[in-house]
Amino acid sequence: MDQLSSLIKGKFGKDLITLGTIDSTNTFAMELAEGGATHGTVVIADRQTSGKGRLGRAWLSPAGVNIYMSLILRPFVRPEDATLLTVIAAISCARALRDITRLPISVKWPNDLMIAERKAGGILVEIKSIGRKIVFAVVGIGINVNSDRNDFPPVLTGSATSLKIETSREQPRNLLIAGILNEIERWYDAFSGGKKKLLLDEWRNLSSTIGKTVTIKAGDEVLIGTAEDIDTSGMLLLKLPSGNIKTIHTGDLTILG
Ligand code: BTN
Repeated sequence: MDQLSSLIKGKFGKDLITLGTIDSTNTFAMELAEGGATHGTVVIADRQTSGKGRLGRAWLSPAGVNIYMSLILRPFVRPEDATLLTVIAAISCARALRDITRLPISVKWPNDLMIAERKAGGILVEIKSIGRKIVFAVVGIGINVNSDRNDFPPVLTGSATSLKIETSREQPRNLLIAGILNEIERWYDAFSGGKKKLLLDEWRNLSSTIGKTVTIKAGDEVLIGTAEDIDTSGMLLLKLPSGNIKTIHTGDLTILG
C-alpha cells in the first residue's frame, strides 16, 4: 500500500492500517478508537467476513476487488448532528468517484452512492457518545469497485452495480481510496470551519432524492410523500399528501419517480 500513502495529501489516512481479512473494518476501527486511536486513522481491508450495512444488513465483501474502509474521527459534533458525518462522507465519495471514473454518481438519502437506479456504494457511520458528547465516530465506506456482474447474488443483480460494470474497465482502487480521503478531509475542514451551508448545498447538487416521490420504511411505518429537502442536521424533510412536512431521521427510502 506504499503507493496509497503517497497519494494521500492530508492527515486523514496518514495513520493507515491495511488488513487482509477482517470481520468488519468498522468493528475493528471501533475497537481501535476505544483503545485511543487518533482522529484521521484509517483501516482498510481486502476482504470482510461480516461486513455490516445499515439497518442490520450484511455488506457483501469479496476479496481483492472493492473498497472496505473505515475512518476514525473525533469530531466536534452534537449527537443530533451525527448524520452530517454521513453527508460529508457521501458528497466526498460522490465527488471522488465522479472525478476519477467520470460516472454520474449521485447520492440517495441517507447513505447510498448510486449510478442511475443501482447502488455502487454505501456509508455506515457508527458513533460512541457519552451524554451529549460524541467521543468518536467511525465512518465506514464500502464501494463496489471491480466486482463483476456475476459476483453479485441473483437477489442483488437488479439493484447493485460496480464502477467496473458501469465503465467496462478495471478502476484504480488506491486512487479512489486516496481521492475519497482527500475529499473527506476537505469537506470535514469546511464543516469544522462553519461552512455547513456549503456542505448541504453540495449534497443537494449531488442528490437523486430531492423532488422525487418516495416511500420510506421505518420500522412498521411506511410513509409516502415528496422528498422536499434535507434540514440543517441532514434529516430528510418529507412532504406528506396532507401537505404537512415530516422530518425523517432514519429509514429505508425507495424512489418511486
Ligand atoms: C450500507 O449501504 O448499508 C452501508 C454499507 C457500509 C459498508 C462498509 S464496508 C466498510 C465498513 N465496514 C463495515 O462492516 N461496513 C462498512
